[in-house]
Amino acid sequence: MAGFDDGRLSVALVDVTEGREDDFHLLARELSALLLTRGYARAETVRDEAHPLRFYSVRHWTDAACAERCHADPDIQALTRRLSQIAQVTYVVNGVRRADPRRLLIGDRRARVEADRRAGFERRVRDIGPADPERRLRGERRLGPRRLRERGGEVDLIAAARRAREHADAAFSHFKVGAALEAADGTVFTGCNVENATYGLTICAERVAMFKALSEGHRAFTRIAIVADTAAPTPPCGACRQILWEFGGNLEIQLANLEKNTGTHELKNLLPLPFDARLL
Ligand code: THU
Repeated sequence: MAGFDDGRLSVALVDVTEGREDDFHLLARELSALLLTRGYARAETVRDEAHPLRFYSVRHWTDAACAERCHADPDIQALTRRLSQIAQVTYVVNGVRRADPRRLLIGDRRARVEADRRAGFERRVRDIGPADPERRLRGERRLGPRRLRERGGEVDLIAAARRAREHADAAFSHFKVGAALEAADGTVFTGCNVENATYGLTICAERVAMFKALSEGHRAFTRIAIVADTAAPTPPCGACRQILWEFGGNLEIQLANLEKNTGTHELKNLLPLPFDARLL
């Protein structure tokens, strides 16, 4: 649509409280009209066919400045507050869509990923035999997990992890965990722990999130949030630290429980002296 920059959009997942659907539709219309008349954005509400009470609220921002002005607008804030009283809102994508992955590497906090890191299992430049730092010549170094230089963007990862935790299948431990992993382009992949009768085949929330992301083709990541219902922080287990390191590099790890954040860490501090493909 003319006047709107289709490259900038936000998406929120809206789970409407049962019985409040009509209120939601009225409010969504009111919000959408205000966004349009003030020139902030074109908004649409998309129903999730699989969940009768779930909607995606999509905003196509006019430009970045309009998005900022909209967030500061008291009328919009009042409507948003009303919305949060009748629905659970999770911000999934916040602000800017980047179609060209090359643009990810330019001027974005979320995408300070070293460009020279290769993806997946094929990390070696060429086979130079067993690991021995003395024998390595310039340019022969092996490529390890990709690194991030700065912390991630504005998506509420913890909210996404809390939501994912609700799907945990923890019939044996009753210890439910949720995770939300942010890819370098801002896409969020969630995971929960899934247990089974053999116990040993249990998979943690963090690895579910990472494997989902990898299987969708993502190979660069910024942050992961991990949520459990414990007063003390629940940090990732050893197996998850290894997988997160190998595929995510020095991720920012945000820990939280159902009420508050319980700490932020860098993965390199949780996994000192790591083993990874650089040593093969
Ligand atoms: N678990 C996770 O999913 N992530 C963690 O960071 C810690 C542990 C799961 C595995 C198992 O299903 C349950 O929590 C108890 O260990």
